[in-house]
Amino acid sequence: MAGGERVAAHTVTVHAGGSTYPVVVGSGVRDRLDGLVGPSVRRVAVVTQAGIGLDLDIDHDHEVFTIGDGETAKSLATVEDLCRSWSRWGLTRADGVVAVGGGLVTDVAGFAAAVYHRGVAVVHVATTLLAMVDAAIGGKTGVNLPEGKNLVGAFWQPRAVLCDTDALATLPERERLSGMGEMAKYHFLTGEDLLALPLEERIAACVRIKAEVVAADEREDVTNTRGRATLNYGHTLAHALETAGRYDLRHGEAVAVGLVYAAHLAHRLGRIDRSRVDQHRDVVASYGLRTVLPEGVEPGELLALMARDKKAVVGLTFALDGPGGVEVVTGVDPDDAAAALDALAGLG
Ligand code: GLY
Repeated sequence: MAGGERVAAHTVTVHAGGSTYPVVVGSGVRDRLDGLVGPSVRRVAVVTQAGIGLDLDIDHDHEVFTIGDGETAKSLATVEDLCRSWSRWGLTRADGVVAVGGGLVTDVAGFAAAVYHRGVAVVHVATTLLAMVDAAIGGKTGVNLPEGKNLVGAFWQPRAVLCDTDALATLPERERLSGMGEMAKYHFLTGEDLLALPLEERIAACVRIKAEVVAADEREDVTNTRGRATLNYGHTLAHALETAGRYDLRHGEAVAVGLVYAAHLAHRLGRIDRSRVDQHRDVVASYGLRTVLPEGVEPGELLALMARDKKAVVGLTFALDGPGGVEVVTGVDPDDAAAALDALAGLG
């Protein structure tokens, strides 16, 4: 068993969509998989990717289904392949799915589980920091279309989530940083100094923060400005940087820049003072993350992409800090969004 001495695991209970499930964080918690899948599940379809280095010892009758790497694998074609393979294998509604991997695996396998036989049980075994603190928690599942990311999906709450921190020992540095970007986001949603906590407690704290948000607004009600949409803090610029496709940024790295940008924009709109902008920059930097735009960005392109963000409902839409905390702000003037980009670039 990898991972050295074990410390007690942390369990966070998520209440969402009429279901209640545990998220267990700690070294070696993968050993709890059979117990959490439960005796009522006869057999298990394990969905993973090549190279996910987490050995699972599963007592349930099971078969492994390997999906491809990269965003192109996050497709309806992969979901169709999975469902057809499961059907040929004889997976029934009394059976279950176990997704083992990062956010791509939990999103795709979770969506296939949501639609196969109109819904079969799924347990997520998150192997990346980003999946542990975000993607595997809260029941969002889905795939991309050629027209955009995550355009087709379902809310499908898992039966349990296992965050086995042994998996992080082999996580590439850039993937670790990507997870740190989402962690920095939680810092601003609550003001908690998460970096002061040991890693497992910090992961559990992020899960608890997300669980509270999801419990209050599982379906991301578009009229709820302080609900689940606040989890997109820092994401409007991040999505634009990712969609532009020319910058070598992982998701969480892009979110990190997006958090500092959102602070500049909130300052521009009179919602926060200069010291709070500096605090954003300092906290993001303390997570070891980039606080400035990549070389060679074209502000006009980023503004156009932000205007087309899939979360936009009325004009330019951002989650922004303010006197009452982070909330969704719609109809932001493009001149203010442009000025905040200048400020981020040190020009304003
Ligand atoms: N990743 C944002 C959410 O789960 O709502």
